[in-house]
Amino acid sequence: MAILIDKKKRVLVQGITGREGRARTRLMREYGTNVVAGVTPGKGGQSVLGVPVFNTPDEAVKSLGTIDVSVVFVPAAGVKDAAISAIEAGIKLTVLVPDRVPVWDAMEIAAATKGNGATFLGPNTLGVLSPGKAVVGMIGGRAESARQWFKPGVPKGVGVISRSGGMASSTGYYLGQAGVRISTIVHIGGDAVIGIRLPDAALMFENDPLTEAIVIFGEIGSSQEEELAQLIIDGKITKPVIAYIGGKAAREGTRFSHAGAIIEGGRGTYAGKVKALREAGAVLVDAFGDLPDAVVNILKKMKGESLMSVADKNAVWNTAITRVEPNKVAVRGYNIAELMGRVSFGAAVYLTLTGELPLPAIARLMDAILVSSIDHGATPPSALAARTVASTGAALSASVAAGIMSINRHHGGAIEDCARQLKAIADRAARESISMDEAATRTLATMREAGERMSGFGHRLHTKDPRTTRLFELAREAGLDGAHMQAARAVEKAFAQAKKVLPINVDGAIGAILADLGMNPAAFNGVFMIARTPGLIAHVIEEQNREKPMRRIDPVNHGYDGPPARSLSDAPSP
Ligand SMILES: CC(C)(COP(=O)(O)OP(=O)(O)OC[C@H]1O[C@@H](n2cnc3c(N)ncnc32)[C@H](O)[C@@H]1OP(=O)(O)O)[C@@H](O)C(=O)NCCC(=O)NCCS
Repeated sequence: MAILIDKKKRVLVQGITGREGRARTRLMREYGTNVVAGVTPGKGGQSVLGVPVFNTPDEAVKSLGTIDVSVVFVPAAGVKDAAISAIEAGIKLTVLVPDRVPVWDAMEIAAATKGNGATFLGPNTLGVLSPGKAVVGMIGGRAESARQWFKPGVPKGVGVISRSGGMASSTGYYLGQAGVRISTIVHIGGDAVIGIRLPDAALMFENDPLTEAIVIFGEIGSSQEEELAQLIIDGKITKPVIAYIGGKAAREGTRFSHAGAIIEGGRGTYAGKVKALREAGAVLVDAFGDLPDAVVNILKKMKGESLMSVADKNAVWNTAITRVEPNKVAVRGYNIAELMGRVSFGAAVYLTLTGELPLPAIARLMDAILVSSIDHGATPPSALAARTVASTGAALSASVAAGIMSINRHHGGAIEDCARQLKAIADRAARESISMDEAATRTLATMREAGERMSGFGHRLHTKDPRTTRLFELAREAGLDGAHMQAARAVEKAFAQAKKVLPINVDGAIGAILADLGMNPAAFNGVFMIARTPGLIAHVIEEQNREKPMRRIDPVNHGYDGPPARSLSDAPSP
């Protein structure tokens, strides 16, 4: 199987006696296409390369029996009549190679297919090629090169859909160079009105047992890529889709080579297409040159094969975090240049620590966590340690390191302990089939008897920590409310019932949230360190610039002379 064409499909060439019709008939036959007839009005009875010529498609069908596909090499003005005569003769697929076919003619052809259960490819198409089987149109040029370039999909291959003719061949060529097999390459044509559109072709590949993944060369203009994204979301396309979209730099109103490739009123933009397809779960590559590797990786993943190269397999040791090659840096597999300017720092931290990019709401939550801990005053132990070391004349790195080294169980390091304790409460509720409140009360009682403290609750200054309320709000917006957050609320309630003012503090909130996100607890205190570093750097630089060396730093008595209280609504948009 392949889509649209195969070795057996009986093909008619309209305009076979013309320059292109004659040349392409020879090339198509050399590749293996089953060309059974040609048509040129007034030239019936002749033959071209041994192929009988008829005056009309109807005559050809009546004389030879069913014809499956007609390919039209007739100048634009004659395409409408040629195509409609083929459709009316009962030919189910018409491939319209000519360019400059009037839009109205394409619409009339479309109307003619409706009543006849037929379809058409193009106009302005290079056609369709199924490696090792057949080519209809002009893809691949000489049969010998086409055979070398495109590897047949045996047992399976990827389906290629292109909105550009030249890039249909190039995509097939570069995939072949990467060892990727192809079921069929379809160039759908770049005109504004076309027959088989990108989503139609994708559905054909979805239903083709020979196709294992779908590779798209899309471009700006029209809503075809967005419709494909919707098909993926609706579960109508389940095979992996790997896409490159051309026209990134095109401005609104500029036609990008093809008539259909135009952005109008914000519709059909590069960014919109990339976003829609990415959100639907397709793999999008930024550079066309990255397409073959992306396809190879998807195919390997599908087959459960390791993506490691032989060199990596034979290396003395491996890391799963970053790959650095000449002119390329990838973090957890993502090209860092692609991440830059696209994902927030919080999302990049999440990616680095967990290996995967977060959903947008989780990325916002990560950013909020990092912002929440960026600085908590000049005298918490880490700031004091950093300032003290800075006052000795130590360098920035040593001073900041001193601050980081003071992040421990009782300062900034309660996140991990708190998360573990909350997990114990949640586990107890499940194990003993009791409510979370009951589990919290019982666990706190046990801890009290053992002289242990609950980490992440209470604050030496705040009775209602402003940061926790906001963090939980953002967590709820992200749809997060797992066992750890529930246990945290139960602990707060248990403390309140015992008349203790021990609200969850920012460490506890972060611990509960990170644990509910399923992150590895070993990294939790690291999140605090990442967040606090800018604050520590600012303290060290201030200490170095404003204070005398070796001063006695009062751990409590200090004032503030920075900007007065101000609001984000007065600031330039962050
Ligand atoms: C279609 C096209 C290839 C024809 O070019 P051509 O072969 O040089 O044109 P010719 O005039 O030599 O041949 C056309 C033939 O069609 C015949 N013809 C005209 N109307 C016809 C009809 N309704 N049915 C069948 N044949 C018809 C003509 O009689 C002529 O044959 P003849 O020379 O024996 O009389 C050309 O017009 C074209 O559009 N090229 C661009 C293709 C392209 O780039 N496509 C998009 C790729 S991205």
